[in-house]
Amino acid sequence: MPTDYFGERIAAHYDESAADMFDPGIVDLMVDFLADLAFDGSALELGIGTGRIALPLARRGVRVHGIDLSEAMVARLRAKPGAEQIGVTIGDFATATVEGYFSVAYLVFNTIMNLTTQDQQVACFQNAAAHLKPGGCFVIEVGMPDLQRLPPGETIRPFTVSESRLGFDEYDIASQRLVSHHYWIADGKVEVFTPPFRYVWPAELDLMARLAGMSLRERWGGWQREPFTSESMSHVSVWQKPDSPEKTVRTPP
Ligand SMILES: C[S@@+](CC[C@H](N)C(=O)[O-])C[C@H]1O[C@@H](n2cnc3c(N)ncnc32)[C@H](O)[C@@H]1O
Repeated sequence: MPTDYFGERIAAHYDESAADMFDPGIVDLMVDFLADLAFDGSALELGIGTGRIALPLARRGVRVHGIDLSEAMVARLRAKPGAEQIGVTIGDFATATVEGYFSVAYLVFNTIMNLTTQDQQVACFQNAAAHLKPGGCFVIEVGMPDLQRLPPGETIRPFTVSESRLGFDEYDIASQRLVSHHYWIADGKVEVFTPPFRYVWPAELDLMARLAGMSLRERWGGWQREPFTSESMSHVSVWQKPDSPEKTVRTPP
């Protein structure tokens, strides 16, 4: 099982520290997008966390099931109104299995990068595809690697600098890994959180989808279906499983 970086210390403050991501202006757009893809009204969230997206999606009438490694994050979800509608499996979303099939599976907020090897990311696509109905879609929201803004020879990119919070990504280009260094003040003490990630380009994700029998259906620069361009800082990509077995994407033997 991968390391759980979202234990009690992080889970206790997750909603507060990600408060801007809970803004209804952001969440509603994501929920609209995902609800449109849930043709039979079922969705699987990989890395469901404290239910930022799952709870409002369930309120739209979509049957949502989630997978997460962190008992502490899921305990926060369980304490919220509406959580009784949502099933959760504790496990690694690259390998854990859930009963039933879904019309959409989704993995948002850069969480594909929590899988720190290519093999794990490939397994995640295969696991998502295995849980989809024919014609079902897998949606990922992830930032573009910030290498365009990394001067030659440098390894550090700041992603947040404020009076109460500092954050720097430390890139290791040879291994395609990065470590996010977060520092913030809580109760007069400095807290530190340094999770490791594997950054990944859209083209590599497309290849992972292909290995899992899916193909790219849409790629946008954001949840409002903004065009994806060379300047996009992140993307929302949708891969689709064929709607009939004859249309299965053939992979080499
Ligand atoms: C950044 S949080 C996102 C939570 C939620 N999706 C949201 O948008 O607020 C990442 C979540 O993914 C979970 N996670 C990370 N790696 C995982 C893995 N390999 N298997 C299952 N859950 C994982 C963490 O425990 C955490 O709850």
